[in-house]
Amino acid sequence: MTAIRLRGLTKCYGTDTVVDGIDLDVRRGECFGLLGPNGAGKTTTLRLLLGHTHPTSGNIEVLGYGIPQEARAMRARVGVVPQQDSLDPDFTVVENLYTYASYFGLRGADLEARVVELLELASLTAKANAGVLQLSGGMRRRLTLARALVNRPDLVILDEPTTGLDPQARQLIWQRLRSLLTTGTTLVLTTHYMEEAARLCDRLAILDRGRVLALGSPRELIAAHIEPRVVEVHGPGVETWRLSHGQHLASRTEQVGETVFCYTTDDQALLADLTTRPDLWFIHRPASLEDVFLKLTGRELHEEPRK
Ligand SMILES: Nc1ncnc2c1ncn2[C@@H]1O[C@H](COP(=O)(O)OP(=O)(O)O)[C@@H](O)[C@H]1O
Ligand SMILES: [Mg+2]
Repeated sequence: MTAIRLRGLTKCYGTDTVVDGIDLDVRRGECFGLLGPNGAGKTTTLRLLLGHTHPTSGNIEVLGYGIPQEARAMRARVGVVPQQDSLDPDFTVVENLYTYASYFGLRGADLEARVVELLELASLTAKANAGVLQLSGGMRRRLTLARALVNRPDLVILDEPTTGLDPQARQLIWQRLRSLLTTGTTLVLTTHYMEEAARLCDRLAILDRGRVLALGSPRELIAAHIEPRVVEVHGPGVETWRLSHGQHLASRTEQVGETVFCYTTDDQALLADLTTRPDLWFIHRPASLEDVFLKLTGRELHEEPRK
C-alpha cells in the first residue's frame, strides 16, 4: 500500500528549480526520511505534499488523494510538525491543544479525554498549565508533536523534528515516534542528523539540489555507495603519508582539513602500516550513513543555498 506517490514532481521559483523531477513512493506504515543539506528542497517537497504550494509540474498523491485538488480532505487525516513551531505563545500548553482539537470538531468529553491522552504522550502532564514561553525547546517540540496527533492521523509529516535539541530531548522524541510506528502510523520526516535517519527510518532518500541522489534502507545505502570500513587518520605529516602509503593501501582516500579518510573493504594492511607510525593517530570503524551522505552531497558546508 502506498501512502505517498510522487511522479516527476517539480517546483520552480523564477528560474530556480528547487524540486527537480522527484519520483518517490512512501509505503504505508513505514518511517521514510528525506535527508539533505540545507537548501536541498526538503521543506518545499513537504509543502507540496501538503498542498501548501502548488507544483510547477508533476503528480502528487497522498493517502490516495490527488494533491493539491483534494488537499482539504487529505489534511483531515494527516498531522504536521512544521520546521518552525507555530504554537500560540499567549496560550498555555492545554489551551494550545484545546484550540487545535476544536478545529477538528472534537467537543466535550471526547475533547477532554483526547487532551489528557496527548499531554501524557508528550510527557507534558505536569506542564499542562504552563505558558508556551516557559517551555524548553524539547518540550515545545513535543507539544507540537502532540498537537499534530490530535486527529489520530494515518500519516505524520515532520520537518526537522529534533533540530537544535539536546541529546536527551532528541531521544524522547524518537521514543514517541517509534511508538507511533508500532500503531501503524506512516511517518515522513526530514533531517540532517544521520544518526536520526539511521535509527528511525526504514528507508530514506538522499536529496540534493531538488533531486533524489539515492534511495533505500540505511543498510542498503551503505552497502551500495561506500566501502564497508573507514580508517580516519590524522597527525603531522598525514598528507605525505596519504600520498606515499594511504592512497595505495585504501580503495579511496579523501582529505578534510587535517584528517585523511581511508575507505576500504579490508583495513588490515592499513592498520598494520599505521602501527609503524606513532606520529599518526587513527580510528577505524564501519562505514556509516554519514559517509554515504558526504560522498553523495560533498563535504563542503552548505550554509547558503547554491544556485
Ligand atoms: N517561497 C520561496 N520562494 C523562492 N525560493 C524559495 C522559496 N521557498 C524555498 N525557496 C528556495 O528553495 C530552495 C530549497 O529550500 P527548502 O525547500 O527550504 O530547502 P531545505 O528544507 O532542504 O533546507 C532554497 O534555495 C530556497 O531558498
Ligand atoms: Mg527545510
